Amino acid sequence: MIRWFTLLMILMQANLSHAGQQCLSCSNVEIVQDCQHYVFCDNTEVCFKHKYMTESGGSMYDLGCAMPETCNHLIGSIFGKRTEGHHLTCTACCNNTRLCNQDIPCSNMKPNVTKLLRECSDIAMTNPADGVYTIYPDGKRALPVYCDMTTANFRWTVIQRRINGFVDFYRGWSAYKEGFGNVSGEYWLGNVNIHEITSHNNHEIRIELEDFEGNKRYAEYTIFSIADEESNFRLLVYNYSGNAGDSFSYHNGMMFSTFDKDNDPYSPSNCAVGYSGAWWYGECHYSNLNGKYLAGHHTSYANGIEWTYWKGSYYSMKSTKMMIRKH
Ligand SMILES: *[C@@H]1O[C@H](CO)[C@@H](O)[C@H](O)[C@H]1NC(C)=O
Ligand SMILES: *[C@@H]1O[C@H](CO)[C@@H](O)[C@H](O)[C@H]1NC(C)=O
Ligand SMILES: *[C@@H]1O[C@H](CO)[C@@H](O)[C@H](O)[C@H]1NC(C)=O
Ligand SMILES: *[C@@H]1O[C@H](CO)[C@@H](O)[C@H](O)[C@H]1NC(C)=O
Repeated sequence: MIRWFTLLMILMQANLSHAGQQCLSCSNVEIVQDCQHYVFCDNTEVCFKHKYMTESGGSMYDLGCAMPETCNHLIGSIFGKRTEGHHLTCTACCNNTRLCNQDIPCSNMKPNVTKLLRECSDIAMTNPADGVYTIYPDGKRALPVYCDMTTANFRWTVIQRRINGFVDFYRGWSAYKEGFGNVSGEYWLGNVNIHEITSHNNHEIRIELEDFEGNKRYAEYTIFSIADEESNFRLLVYNYSGNAGDSFSYHNGMMFSTFDKDNDPYSPSNCAVGYSGAWWYGECHYSNLNGKYLAGHHTSYANGIEWTYWKGSYYSMKSTKMMIRKH
C-alpha cells in the first residue's frame, strides 16, 4: 500500500516537472514510422494522430500536438487547422497513459529521432540572436528563414520582409507558392511553408511597418493561418490589436491572388494586376504589403506597399515585416 502510494507520488512529480507531452510531429506521412521529428507540446495539449484520405484514395497521417477537446471531432471542426477539403478524421489522442502517435505510450516516449525545428518558436537555445536559422516546416525539408528572436520577448518566424526594394515582389503563383527573395534581406517565405507551419498549433501574426520619417507602427492578430493550395491559400485572420489600424481583418476568408491567378471576388478585373501585388484580395484591399516599392508618397492609387488605415492609399512603406509565432 505504501509502496504503491510512493510510486504514485513519484509519477505525479515527474508529471509536474514536465513542460508538456513529447509528441511526434509530422504532416503528410504515408507511414507513421517515417515521422522523425518530435516536439514538446504545451502542458495543456496532448499528442494526436490524424489519418486522412487523399484524393487518390490512399491514406496519410498528420501527427502533433492538439488541445484535448479537439481530438474527438472531425478535423473539419478543428478551428484553424486544415479546415479545408481533406476530410481528416482524428483517430487518436494521447493523455499520458493512452496509446497514440506511433502507438507509443506518450509517457514513455523517448524517440530516437532527430530533433527538427518546424518554426522559429521551436528554437530552444537561451538568448538567441535575431538572424537566419534553418527550419523544417514539414518535418523533412530544410528551409532557411529569418527569425526575430527578440520582439516582445517572443520567437517569431518572419514570413515577409521589405526593406529596400531590391527584390521584385510582382511575381506569379508558383513564386508565391514556393517563396522567393533573400532571407537576409527581402523575401516571401512561400505559401506552402506558411500553410505547413500554421496547420500545426495556433498562431499569432505581428505586422510591423515603418515610414520614411522613422515612425513605426504594428498590428497583431491572435488568430492566423492559411489553408492549403487546393483552397488557394485562403486566409484566416482576426482579433486585431496594435497602433497601425486594422487593415487586415477585411481580408479574412479571402483566397490568395497573383497576376496569373485571379481568386478575388472582384469581377471586373484581377486586383493583383490592378494594384501590382499579390495578396488575399477582396474587392480589392486595405493592405497591399507585396505591392510596388514606391518609397513614400505616390500619385498612383493604392499600388504601393499600403496600409490604408495608417497612411491612406497614396503612401508606400519604407519597411514591413510580417512574422508569426505559435501560442
Ligand atoms: C487528461 O487527463 C486529465 C487529468 O487526468 C483529465 O482531467 C482529462 O479529462 C483528460 N483528458 C482527456 C482528453 O482524456
Ligand atoms: C538509435 O539509433 C541508432 C542509430 O540509428 C541505433 O543504433 C540505436 O539502436 C537506436 N537506439 C534506440 C534506443 O532505439
Ligand atoms: C541579401 O540581402 C542582404 C541585405 O540586404 C545583402 O547584404 C546581401 O548581399 C543579399 N544577398 C543576395 C544574394 O542578394
Ligand atoms: C484576442 O486578443 C486579446 C489580446 O489582444 C486576447 O487577450 C484574447 O485572448 C484574444 N482572443 C482570442 C479569441 O484569441
